Amino acid sequence: MKLQKGVKIAVIGAGQVGASAAFAILASGLASDLVLVDVNKEKAAGEAMDLGDAAAFIKPLDIYSGDYEDCQGANIVVFTAGANQKPGETRLDLVNKNIAILKESLPHLLKYCGKSIFLMVANPVDILTYAALKISGLPQSQVFGSGTVLDTSRFRSELSQYCGVEPRNVHAYIVGEHGDSQVPLWSTANVAGMGLEQFSKLRGLEPVNRQEVAHRVRTAAYEIIQRKEATYYAIAFAIKRICESILRDENSILSVSGLVDGIYGIQDCCLSLPCIVNGSGREQVLALSMSEEEKAALRNSAATLKDVLKQVNL
Ligand code: LAC
Repeated sequence: MKLQKGVKIAVIGAGQVGASAAFAILASGLASDLVLVDVNKEKAAGEAMDLGDAAAFIKPLDIYSGDYEDCQGANIVVFTAGANQKPGETRLDLVNKNIAILKESLPHLLKYCGKSIFLMVANPVDILTYAALKISGLPQSQVFGSGTVLDTSRFRSELSQYCGVEPRNVHAYIVGEHGDSQVPLWSTANVAGMGLEQFSKLRGLEPVNRQEVAHRVRTAAYEIIQRKEATYYAIAFAIKRICESILRDENSILSVSGLVDGIYGIQDCCLSLPCIVNGSGREQVLALSMSEEEKAALRNSAATLKDVLKQVNL
């Protein structure tokens, strides 16, 4: 798929995450139409007006607020609607509120967006992705979540500081739940094809403190929420990055969340693994090699999510 005129993105939820995502998409020049939908119509309208005033500084973009029917023909629907974590809350604590919002909103969207790619962002993103898949009945390539794309960026940022090379030269993934049971894949982490231990020796570095790094990545959102009550800028860039890979048919490898059924002994659960993302959506999951410890941690993450799913009435 070539970048073309007529690329439309619908952002559902014009809160801080939705509005920041709209800002990042607008700045990227990826879309020609951007529609914001929120139950608070005035808020959506205000955000669209504010963003629209950038018209003379950006590539041409029609940005407006609207209703579900205005999402008709969207290439991508970015679903951010929902409550966000309060200080002290986990992402999983949001499940009932946000499932209710999804159940109310998704049937309306499906009337107009049956062909769109659905990118789920609202938390707990793995649970909402699973729910959206089941409610919509759409193929798993078409409905997936932002998952641990952001955690992976946090991990690469930490490792880049440790290694003294830029983050784009660090290849490492966080997989599993976008939340407390997430799993850092140390066994495949590398810089220029060199494992971390080899790279550390080459550069004369002390071995990386894995526990500390994993802790900082896992608790990054809590640290931010404690200080400013929400996170939204980095997730907005993660959303932009995923949209870019879809719209430019990039075949990028991103740790998005989607259905995992039959790999690593995990059945019927949504969580993140590195996937090929392109114009068809989440095209293929890469079942990369993991240490036994990592596999066990991933299964534990899946079990945590499945326990939550059992309590959800879909
Ligand atoms: C975070 C939110 C998006 O991790 O869950 O910042």
